[in-house]
Amino acid sequence: MDKDLEKRIREAMLNPQNMGELANADSVGTVGNSDCGEMLRLWVKFKDDNGRKVIDKATFQSFGCETAIAVASLATELIRGKTAEEALALKTEDLAGELGPLPPMKIHCAQLVEGALRSALEPGEELKPASAPAPMAVSQASANLGDSLKPKEGVKIVFLNKKQDAQ
Ligand code: FES
Repeated sequence: MDKDLEKRIREAMLNPQNMGELANADSVGTVGNSDCGEMLRLWVKFKDDNGRKVIDKATFQSFGCETAIAVASLATELIRGKTAEEALALKTEDLAGELGPLPPMKIHCAQLVEGALRSALEPGEELKPASAPAPMAVSQASANLGDSLKPKEGVKIVFLNKKQDAQ
C-alpha cells in the first residue's frame, strides 16, 4: 500500500464517523468476507424530506480491517440525505471517496461496505429470522455485530463471492 493511502487511512481512523449500532434503525445489512474473515454491519435510518424518503443517518460496526472502517466512515457520511436508489447507484470507488483509488488488494475492503449497503437497502434484502418469513424485529436487527455471531441469532450474513472480490 502506498504511503499516501496509508496516511489517508490513518487520518480517517483518527476520527471515524458513525461507528456503533443505531437504535430504531429502519434497515440493517450484514456482510462477511470468508477470505479475510472481515465482517461489517450497517444500520440505516430514513426520514422524510419534502416527500422524499432519504437517509437520515447510517452507522456501522466492523471487525478489524482499517481500510473497511475508513471506507465505512466516509460512506456513511456520503449517503446521508440520499434516497436508497441514489445510495445504491454509488460505485465502490465513490464510497471510498477521498481515500482515492485503492490498490487491488484493498478493493474488497470497500466492496464489503458496498455489500453491506446493498444488503441494507435493496428491496427484498431485509433481514429475516432464519425460520420465519416475517421481517426481523428492529430490536433483533439492531443487535451488536458480535452478538449476531452467536449461533442462535438467526441473522442473515451475506458472504461476498470471490468473483466480486476480484473486480
Ligand atoms: Fe478484508 Fe479489509 S482486509 S475487508
